[in-house]
Amino acid sequence: MPTATYTFPAGFLWGTATSAFQVEGNSPASNWTAWTNEPGRILQGMKPGLACDWWGGRWKEDFDRAAESGQNAHRLSVDWARIQPAEDRWNEDALDYYRQIVRGAVERGLLPMVTLHHFSDPLWLSEQGGWANPKSPQYFEAFVRKTVEALKEYVSLWVTINEPNIYYFSGYLTGEFPPGHHGDLESTFQVLCNMLRGHAAAYRTIHEIQKNARVGLAHHHRPLRAARSWMPFDQLIAHLGPQVMNAFPLALKDGKVRFMLKQASLPEVVHTQDFFGLNYYAINLLKFVLKPADNFIKTSFPKEAEVSGSGFLANLPEGLFESFRWARQFNIPILVTENGIEDSDDGLRQRYLVEHIHQMWRAVTYSWPVKGYFHWSQIDNFEWERGWTQRFGLWGLNTETQARIRRKSVDIYAEICRTNGISSEMIKKYVPALTGKLFPG
Ligand code: BGC
Repeated sequence: MPTATYTFPAGFLWGTATSAFQVEGNSPASNWTAWTNEPGRILQGMKPGLACDWWGGRWKEDFDRAAESGQNAHRLSVDWARIQPAEDRWNEDALDYYRQIVRGAVERGLLPMVTLHHFSDPLWLSEQGGWANPKSPQYFEAFVRKTVEALKEYVSLWVTINEPNIYYFSGYLTGEFPPGHHGDLESTFQVLCNMLRGHAAAYRTIHEIQKNARVGLAHHHRPLRAARSWMPFDQLIAHLGPQVMNAFPLALKDGKVRFMLKQASLPEVVHTQDFFGLNYYAINLLKFVLKPADNFIKTSFPKEAEVSGSGFLANLPEGLFESFRWARQFNIPILVTENGIEDSDDGLRQRYLVEHIHQMWRAVTYSWPVKGYFHWSQIDNFEWERGWTQRFGLWGLNTETQARIRRKSVDIYAEICRTNGISSEMIKKYVPALTGKLFPG
């Protein structure tokens, strides 16, 4: 076997990503706290409880471990409901605590990337219709102003909104997320447009406050294919799927929102991202089924793919490369803001990690502007409607004792981060089965 190293450019960002509701614990009144208290909404009735107890201070040990394993950045989010518990009230203590957290990241050599909205909304906003309310963009803008003012000393890399497409798809089309609507195209379109307005307002506000800020969103990109190439209905949904899933970032190109048969013109949203934040997990095959309750779609993975424990994801690294190719149309630097797999026994994660990072290296060698990678996630955390049934952490979590459990994947990711590359020795040591594939010859 030849010895070789796939090296990344100097200054490449290596980190992990988390989100407030999923790790903080004891979350205040939000759409998601209310949702987790409703019977039947979360698998096995699971509750976030203390989550990873970040609000109790355990972010410190998780940041220590991240830094010790060679990471140089961390993506985290703030919970709007903590910062603005009521429409007319700000919680200065919460802002102070977030300031401690981001300072803690900087002190450990982790560049903080802060997401301002990651699925959870304050309850007072949900009670007024959430993002379907025409006032939501201005509410969001006020919250962003307050938060950026408070954190600007330590943070200049911002994500406005995490995965607007998953938010409206799961909240208004499939009903797995709050507010649990099914097939509600009208509200989906309102939410999409209001989130675009909110994002653009946030972009301008952040730049007004902070000249050197870099601001983007985190877009969930999922390459979609017809399950049966000969079936016109499969082809139709594989053609419409990307319109539904990519309407948000595409509107940032020309100010035109195109969603199914609906259209809107929002010229103010054009060019409101400094980098493209890409969340990639897997490719999906789409099959047309006569089931309106499922929006006429059954999803699966390509046959040859290694599927994760619960069948939720699969190891399809070529989809990351395809997503980069797609994201290049925005002509801005690309950051992988999430990528990972649920794998409680860690049997697949090492291969998933290495093969995805290898595809990222391929993109870099094409001189595509990929600048960093944030693995989802540093530690197991509360997986939304799937509760604790799925484990995405490099580190496992015992929710009873709060003990962190080291998984094998910690070591290979640490070596990649420390050496800024993937070497043939590393592959031989951790994932020998991939040697011929990654280092042929
Ligand atoms: C979300 C994360 C989530 C991950 C895995 C992404 O869509 O942004 O919050 O934990 O998927 O389910």
